Amino acid sequence: MRVVKTAAPPLRDVPLQVTNPERIPARRYYDEEFYKLECERVWPHVWQMACRLEEIPQVGDWIEYKILDKSVLVVRTKTGIKAFHNACRHRGMRLASGHGNCKTQGFICSFHGWRFNMDGENTFLFGRHLFSEKNLEKAELALAPCRVALWGGSAFINFDDNAPPLRECLGTLADRLEAHNVDKLKVEWWRSAVLPVNWKLAMEAFMEGYHVMRTHPQLQALSTPQLMLYGPDQGSGSPTPARTNITSREFVDLSIRYMERLSDGMAGMVHGSEVAIAKTLRDMEVPDDLDGAAMAFYGRLGAEITAQGRARGVPVPDVNQVAVSHPVKAVEFLFPHYFLLPMFSAMSSYRIRPLSPETCLFEIWSLALFPENEERERPVAPVPMPHDDPSFPEIPRQDYSNLPAQQLGLHAGGFEYMRLSKNVEGMISNYQRLLDGYIAGVEPSKLAKATQIVCSGFDSPIFDIGF
Ligand code: FES
Ligand SMILES: [Fe+2]
Repeated sequence: MRVVKTAAPPLRDVPLQVTNPERIPARRYYDEEFYKLECERVWPHVWQMACRLEEIPQVGDWIEYKILDKSVLVVRTKTGIKAFHNACRHRGMRLASGHGNCKTQGFICSFHGWRFNMDGENTFLFGRHLFSEKNLEKAELALAPCRVALWGGSAFINFDDNAPPLRECLGTLADRLEAHNVDKLKVEWWRSAVLPVNWKLAMEAFMEGYHVMRTHPQLQALSTPQLMLYGPDQGSGSPTPARTNITSREFVDLSIRYMERLSDGMAGMVHGSEVAIAKTLRDMEVPDDLDGAAMAFYGRLGAEITAQGRARGVPVPDVNQVAVSHPVKAVEFLFPHYFLLPMFSAMSSYRIRPLSPETCLFEIWSLALFPENEERERPVAPVPMPHDDPSFPEIPRQDYSNLPAQQLGLHAGGFEYMRLSKNVEGMISNYQRLLDGYIAGVEPSKLAKATQIVCSGFDSPIFDIGF
């Protein structure tokens, strides 16, 4: 992938286009017209994470997925997962909301009582003789199907029958996360908040590690990777690679404390059981040099997480092997609105949905691997909490705390564009230019290729995405 050095070519019909890849026009985060274009030209054509499959574990279980003015029912049928547009074929009533099971009763429209089974077929039509036969074609009476694809333990929907397949859009990211057993993860907890910001702004708080220094000082102080990348002198802000003078023993200690803080503050990403294993390694023998110590400590940790998990019947991949064969970033983005944050065997996950130009719904899951025969409760969508609710984990709460002030700042006179680091804030530019591609109507195969480039993990540079 080439790093973009020049301006992006102008695209047809894209107001507020990102023409300088290092600068994002501020109005893209509140302009009504731009929001309307996203609603009309982006969301109807992209693969959206609609639900986790555990939300519909039994035949007949269904869940409603809402995006903007659309609603889709995702149903587990006897023959697999299906999705339907949520509208009665009589006079358009939204058929169902929330979640439930339709195995015995089907979906019953509350207006005139028409019924549909889990396969979407019409099974009851009150006063059939009152309609002309021509108006009751069997196929037309069935719920309109919506495209659905399964990946990574979730169902994804797409309103566009001509969009390239989900796998083609995700590219090698799908293979890499599959090697980490993403499809075997289960929900440990699920929370949500309505944030008073544009959906893109909320996502961008998680697209780089550059903010850790100021927003998560508790992590910065403990993070050996951060110290190695940015150096101990944070005052200058110069991201020159630098080594610290810590000893190997201190490195092990710092690493364990970092994991502990990350686990407390984030859950899924580093699981409590992994921290417990790390603590048992505190006194292990490590070489004097830092690289050797890092190899020894993380090598042993990965081996223990794998062995101890498997001994409990947990489907843990070989953590050390997949770290080499299928390396992943700490934050992986699945365009347009879904994140997975893998570290060892557990992951955190985010999904963001626009509610209006300046509000969005932000969901967080803590996902972990559990013994395969263990019964888990069906997870149910949480009631959104205030974004500053103290029961949110520390790290996302810190991230959320910046967002309302940033949204306000974008409206300030004299602030015309965000200024991005071309080296570590490139993901923001990359996916924003992909949005422009959708708005301009770039051909689907090119959009799929660009999506693969955009889905290359956080802290990435600005890439040439092909248009
Ligand atoms: S609108 Fe559903 S039965 Fe009339
Ligand atoms: Fe953060």
